[in-house]
Amino acid sequence: MKHFLNINNIEDLNATIKEAIALKAHPFKYQSQGAQKTLVLLFFNASLRTRISTELAAKNLGMHVIVLNLSDAWQLEFEDGAIMNFQNSEHVKEAAKVISQYATIIGVRAFPTLTDKAKDQSEWILNAFATFATVPVINMESATAHPLQSLADAITVAETRQKKKPKVLLTWAPHPKALPHAVANSFIKTMQLQDVDLCIAHPEGYDLDPTIVKNTPVYYNQNKALKAADFVYAKNWSSFSEYGKILNTKSDWMLTKEKIGAAKFMHCLPVRRNVVVEDAVLDSDQSLCIAQSNNRTFAAQIVIKKLLESL
Ligand code: CP
Repeated sequence: MKHFLNINNIEDLNATIKEAIALKAHPFKYQSQGAQKTLVLLFFNASLRTRISTELAAKNLGMHVIVLNLSDAWQLEFEDGAIMNFQNSEHVKEAAKVISQYATIIGVRAFPTLTDKAKDQSEWILNAFATFATVPVINMESATAHPLQSLADAITVAETRQKKKPKVLLTWAPHPKALPHAVANSFIKTMQLQDVDLCIAHPEGYDLDPTIVKNTPVYYNQNKALKAADFVYAKNWSSFSEYGKILNTKSDWMLTKEKIGAAKFMHCLPVRRNVVVEDAVLDSDQSLCIAQSNNRTFAAQIVIKKLLESL
């Protein structure tokens, strides 16, 4: 694996999930693998889980970790041929090469604009680092993908599933702010590679990128989609067709204990209580959210381990 930009960069997903579960049982087994190696984590946006779990994962492998919030660095220019006469002080071409001298691996978190669809779809920030860095790059949530999250989600489903082929529902849920599509996209792509019965539910107007959804069944009726679900993954996203817009807030799409029945509840966190999902679900044994967050460490650890092995 050269970079980890998308879930498709993992060659054998099922084997990788098994390896991550084995790492979870013995997290310090490969402490010597990362000795004298450094992970540099670049955050263009806020984070709680990704920041701590990725640092912990690298430290479990014996690596040094340096975290940089880009708000504390020189403002970067990404445009090729730019006349840098305005506020951007440093081009990504220099920055990525300079950081590569300090880092064995670079992690990048860079959210979408949600205003410029073409720019977001081009993954301009993540791909610039992957292009100009001379070391492997890890996607810590980009404009269109959050593969560390979806790998952790797949580990959680693998650990929890009771059936050979469980029904997994990804359902849109209300939220007061316009949110990206990255978590939903990566969850769909990852579950499409798993032996599960995957479906998606959302109000009309919230159709996701058709090149990602492909032939996964889509319901506009949440109650119908919830029937016989074993896993219910709630996530808000803004409109993809009317890019970045909130078309409605549909509070009746909030997940409740009554709606999910006996299903396990999943969310990537952070979650808005009693907007996305009611307290009774999050405070019950049916919620897998804390387990998902724990698995973020082992998802990151197996990815870093594989990148170190391919150096
Ligand atoms: N789920 C997730 O990526 O959490 P953070 O935004 O807190 O890192």
